[in-house]
Amino acid sequence: MKILAISGSLRHSSSNTQLLQALALLAPAGTTITLFTELAQFPHFNPDLDQEPAPHAVAAFRNQLGWADAVVISTPEYAHGVPGSLKNALDWIVSSGEFVQKPVCLINASQQAIHAYESLAETLKVMLAVLVPDGFVTVPVQGRKLTAAEIAANPEFSVYLCRVISLLVDR
Ligand SMILES: Cc1cc2nc3c(=O)[nH]c(=O)nc-3n(C[C@H](O)[C@H](O)[C@H](O)COP(=O)(O)O)c2cc1C
Repeated sequence: MKILAISGSLRHSSSNTQLLQALALLAPAGTTITLFTELAQFPHFNPDLDQEPAPHAVAAFRNQLGWADAVVISTPEYAHGVPGSLKNALDWIVSSGEFVQKPVCLINASQQAIHAYESLAETLKVMLAVLVPDGFVTVPVQGRKLTAAEIAANPEFSVYLCRVISLLVDR
């Protein structure tokens, strides 16, 4: 199984990115979890630019979403919403449709980020993604400055991440 992991944070030391890297460390044999790394390179979405050839980052995103069997998104909340860079990237996928029928789990590093979750879930639903039941998980690592290896090695956190992987692998 191939899982694409998308972090909504562009911060170098992002807790959401560390969570996804920990998720990759916990992948069982036969499952690969790849972090999407080009979120910062997207041009602002403009329907006038949504034509072939797509901008490089957009083409890479569409390609990696296309081969992924499932997606895991971990994002911070900014001003009670989804970070603009993540929403911008999702807007580029409305016309190309790679989220249609794609199983998606949402994780985040903060218990407060409920508005971003609701907004992101609504966007994914309208793009016809399949939000995996029980696939919204908070792993409270925000502010703890943990590395991916430390998160993966701590059962307090890894139990949540392993559950997300199982939800996708056992579908
Ligand atoms: C500009 C800005 C706005 C924020 N707005 C919210 C918010 O509305 N709700 C919330 O729970 N956290 C908010 N936060 C806190 C971030 O969501 C939090 O620091 C997050 O865990 C950072 O994730 P990262 O470590 O992956 O970058 C905000 C942070 C910034 C910088």
